[in-house]
Amino acid sequence: MRESVRCCPGRRDKAHSTWESGSSPGLPLPLRLRGLRVPGSPGAPARARVSSGLRRGQPGRDALSSGRPARPLCRAGGDTGASGSASPPAVEPAPQLKRNSFPSMNFEAEILTTPHDNSDLYMIPSMRSLTAEEYVEAFKAFLDHSTEHQCMDEFNKDQMPNIVAGLGAGKSTLSVLGVGSGTGEQDLKMIRILQAVHPGVFIDNEIVEPNPQHVAAYKELVNQAPDLQNVSFIWHQLTSLEYEQQVKERGTHKKFDFIHMIQMLYRVEDIPSTIKFFHSCLDHHGKLLIIILSDSSGWASLWKKHRDCLPATDSGHYITCSGITEVLRGLGVQHRVYELPSGWDITECFVEGDAVGGRMMDFLTGTKNFLGTAPPALRQQLQEALCQPECSSTRDGRVIFSNNLSMIVAES
Ligand SMILES: C[S@@+](CC[C@H](N)C(=O)[O-])C[C@H]1O[C@@H](n2cnc3c(N)ncnc32)[C@H](O)[C@@H]1O
Repeated sequence: MRESVRCCPGRRDKAHSTWESGSSPGLPLPLRLRGLRVPGSPGAPARARVSSGLRRGQPGRDALSSGRPARPLCRAGGDTGASGSASPPAVEPAPQLKRNSFPSMNFEAEILTTPHDNSDLYMIPSMRSLTAEEYVEAFKAFLDHSTEHQCMDEFNKDQMPNIVAGLGAGKSTLSVLGVGSGTGEQDLKMIRILQAVHPGVFIDNEIVEPNPQHVAAYKELVNQAPDLQNVSFIWHQLTSLEYEQQVKERGTHKKFDFIHMIQMLYRVEDIPSTIKFFHSCLDHHGKLLIIILSDSSGWASLWKKHRDCLPATDSGHYITCSGITEVLRGLGVQHRVYELPSGWDITECFVEGDAVGGRMMDFLTGTKNFLGTAPPALRQQLQEALCQPECSSTRDGRVIFSNNLSMIVAES
């Protein structure tokens, strides 16, 4: 493990960007229809208009509450395209069109078809982002085939006891806040370390997590755990920005001894202001732990050198460790970085028709059924990029993508 220490005493509250609202993680883009054609009359334009209750940029909870992917209504020929442009095609309706409405859970589509026969109109859904439900599946496929959590376990074992030893300065209750906690496995590990290092202390644990399925799974995990008697849990099913806004509206700024943001900053609206806000929630002698992809990871190379292979449906931030430490330096916050190796076995991503490989590609691209909806050239380009030595290595015939992590510990 490589460890580096970066201390930036001095200025505080220097760098700050504007508050930004509205951008939303992981929402499905509205179903896009392109070049819809009526079979049997090639080239005959039919106008398709899809209006969605969801906007790209709308807070995630609308999508999360219905969680339904837009269902294909019909199949259409034409280019599905690699671009993420959400504009419907600028095709004028043929004069004799008939209006059919297809309401669904989270969008309403109107398809204008020729009147005589619309029975075999069909459409292939174009590329779109993952819904909350699909993200859960894709993330699971990633976790099952990577050493992400094992890497965190190593850090927990070797470093965390020292890191949390000074927290609370003798208080009888430690306040902990998990942001983007997912299904809670990492959170409970942190709590158990705190219990071991501070025996008898009560732990007041709050969680900010927008995905209802993750919240439900976290609660279930807590229900099954026999050793959490001295721990209280409060879940806020919110994005970090929604939580921040709530805190500011109420004017109650609760302070925490330990805050962690583990592998979640990719999806927040504004990274510098999010870090600034949560850092301001630390109590004296508190610590903020940020776990993020390392600059040495395959992700960093993919995002820097092969960004053109990634679809626009991949709506997150391409951020790695140096992006975060730059923010901390700007805030004048003392921090320390630990680098740990981690790998992700992506061999199945190259096996035609492999379901797990498909879900892992969805996780990698933030796109539903990337292998089935991306234009073949884009698919091939991305698969080739993944095999480049700066992204992955081959071990015993397996393709291992570098998933190296950086653990950043910031002081209050
Ligand atoms: C990659 S998972 C990491 C989960 C967990 N921390 C772990 O390491 O296992 C990212 C988590 O961040 C959550 N998330 C996404 N956007 C968020 C936002 N704007 N605010 C808070 N959490 C968010 C997701 O729902 C997801 O549970």
